[in-house]
Amino acid sequence: MSKIIKWGILGCGRIAHKFAEGLRVLPGAKLEAVASKTERKAEDLGKTFGVKKIYNNYEGLVNNHAVDVIYIATTHNFHYQNALFCLTHGKHVLCEKPITLNADQAEDLIKTARNNNLFLMEAMWTRFLPCIIKLNELIEQDIIGEIKHITADFGINREFDPKIRAFNPELGGGALLDLGIYPINFARMVYKQSPCKIKSSADIGITKVDEKSCYLFEYENGQTAMLSSSYRLLMTHEAFIFGTKGYLKIPDFYHPTKIVLKLEAKPKKIFRFPFKSTGYNYEALEVMKCLISNQIESKIMPLNETLEIMKTMDIIRSQWNLKYPGE
Ligand SMILES: NC(=O)c1ccc[n+]([C@@H]2O[C@H](COP(=O)([O-])OP(=O)(O)OC[C@H]3O[C@@H](n4cnc5c(N)ncnc54)[C@H](OP(=O)(O)O)[C@@H]3O)[C@@H](O)[C@H]2O)c1
Repeated sequence: MSKIIKWGILGCGRIAHKFAEGLRVLPGAKLEAVASKTERKAEDLGKTFGVKKIYNNYEGLVNNHAVDVIYIATTHNFHYQNALFCLTHGKHVLCEKPITLNADQAEDLIKTARNNNLFLMEAMWTRFLPCIIKLNELIEQDIIGEIKHITADFGINREFDPKIRAFNPELGGGALLDLGIYPINFARMVYKQSPCKIKSSADIGITKVDEKSCYLFEYENGQTAMLSSSYRLLMTHEAFIFGTKGYLKIPDFYHPTKIVLKLEAKPKKIFRFPFKSTGYNYEALEVMKCLISNQIESKIMPLNETLEIMKTMDIIRSQWNLKYPGE
């Protein structure tokens, strides 16, 4: 890549460090500036990665003319206001998942980006990993025949603390928006459509967010998906795609390195696809390729899919009457 793309990071928590680590292995990327409302965090991130400009507010970052694109790494509840702030200051945006709390906010961001000819993408990093790229090729080749059913889960056992973002409604807490979005995105990617029927159920905890939730999707032609997520249970993190000729299994589909193919009456075949660095480099590379070729949207994680996933999650939450403060 000939042109150097200068990145800014807004919000300097846990994921910001992993993303910055990913940028290190991209020759065309430079981490130009970081901004945090928490002084120590901006210093920590900035010094670790040798960043030129360290801001203790977001204004400095959006007004820095050297910065081409801003990666938003705050908690879900801030994504809408942070992304809008960057876009209205003329910055391209890569925003952590979920892009916003709900579909209305996502739609507004998408309109703003398009009206201002600016790049916007949800940081659904798994879509860009070598393993998932290979999986899509296998699906394209109809290797397991007609796909009929998908299962996937993502659950971790987090110690309860009402203040942390997993359980705190003020920070957009709950399993669906943080973890359930991965299996939902996976099913959306494989079926290339949204479900026409959605059934769901949730364990709502004392902080009034879902601590465990499961989703049963039906599609126009009878295909199905059975998905779940939890902040209170360790789950398998496996995804299966079942077709008329056999199945594909993706162990650890949240950061996959292998695919198992099992066809009727044939031995299992394993494809291995290790990824470099933290893996966040692949989504960053996609952003950079788009910016260099003047594309304001990624074809791998298109904005209409981001919006449809948000609409699906809105429907699921409406089935539980779960609303976030201010909604
Ligand atoms: N792609 C992935 O694999 C992955 C993994 C983990 C998380 N994520 C996503 O990344 C985002 C951030 O997650 P994280 O684990 O990095 O979060 P975090 O470390 O808890 O917080 C990130 C930043 O959000 C702001 N923030 C957090 N709690 C706050 C509070 N109580 N009041 C005001 N500001 C607060 C702070 O911004 P300042 O620095 O400005 O103070 C903080 O540095 C989430 O949306 C999550 O979905 C993605």
